[in-house]
Amino acid sequence: VPLVAVQALSDLRTVAPGSRALETSQDRGTEKQFFVDLGLSTAPFRTISDLDELRDALGAVGAPAILKTRRFGYDGKGQVRIDHHHDAEPAWEAIGKVPAILEGRVDFDLEVSVIAARSFDGGVVCYDPGENVHQQGILRTTRVPARISPSLARRATGIAGQIADALNYVGVLGVELFVVNDELLVNEIAPRVHNSGHWTQNGCVVDQFEQHIRAILGRPLGDGRRYSDVIMTNLIGEQVEHLDESWSDPDTALHLYGKHPVLPDRKMGHLNRIVRRV
Ligand SMILES: Nc1ncnc2c1ncn2[C@@H]1O[C@H](COP(=O)(O)OP(=O)(O)OP(=O)(O)O)[C@@H](O)[C@H]1O
Ligand SMILES: [Mg+2]
Repeated sequence: VPLVAVQALSDLRTVAPGSRALETSQDRGTEKQFFVDLGLSTAPFRTISDLDELRDALGAVGAPAILKTRRFGYDGKGQVRIDHHHDAEPAWEAIGKVPAILEGRVDFDLEVSVIAARSFDGGVVCYDPGENVHQQGILRTTRVPARISPSLARRATGIAGQIADALNYVGVLGVELFVVNDELLVNEIAPRVHNSGHWTQNGCVVDQFEQHIRAILGRPLGDGRRYSDVIMTNLIGEQVEHLDESWSDPDTALHLYGKHPVLPDRKMGHLNRIVRRV
């Protein structure tokens, strides 16, 4: 969605989540700088707009690194890994020679995300952090609770609240973080319901989708406390055609998106397996 369209609409109507969130998250460079300005930690990064800048950035950030287009990336698209300094030119060509950011590759212990909801009156409710596993840049599984200490979980939800406040955000927001020892690095935000929040459909009274609608309609936020430990598994591409084993479990709920056609890296649905009732 073009930013100017949302800005123009905002003069006429209440718009939630609002143009600030869109502006910030549409551009990875703006987004990362926003985290830094909030005093949050991120992977080391540089914004680049030509091959010379990329070479300089590689010198500063060091290899291994990941080159990401500033705009239009999702599910690992628009990203290239750089293992050596001499890979700069092929990487620059691979992303189509467009403005990008170079990030140092973080050797994280695990990845977590927080799904936060913020209402018009500034109240913030967070779901328990989920622990995410990605392969080839695509989310495969989210498990709750994440295997992090309660204090780290509180810090993670605190960061999500801080980001939502700074954006004057209204609605549901996903915040992705890397856990490195006792440190949290913010990776990116998603100004919407998020794949790593799909577990809430079978783990909470009010899931992230209803929570978003409640928030943007100015309704009271719902109860987002987790009543079950859940493992959410994405059905990617052909996996959706082989459900025989995974879906025979009575504690597993299937969610299909009705997308056609089935493509190799396309998210077609997900399974929520209840592993424990809490
Ligand atoms: N700097 C980094 N260091 C280590 N791993 C990274 C880094 N950046 C990205 N990754 C890995 O690649 C995944 C996808 O990257 P990122 O979230 O930046 O891109 P995306 O394409 O916007 O993803 P999505 O929209 O699916 O969340 C991350 O969740 C992580 O597993
Ligand atoms: Mg991501």
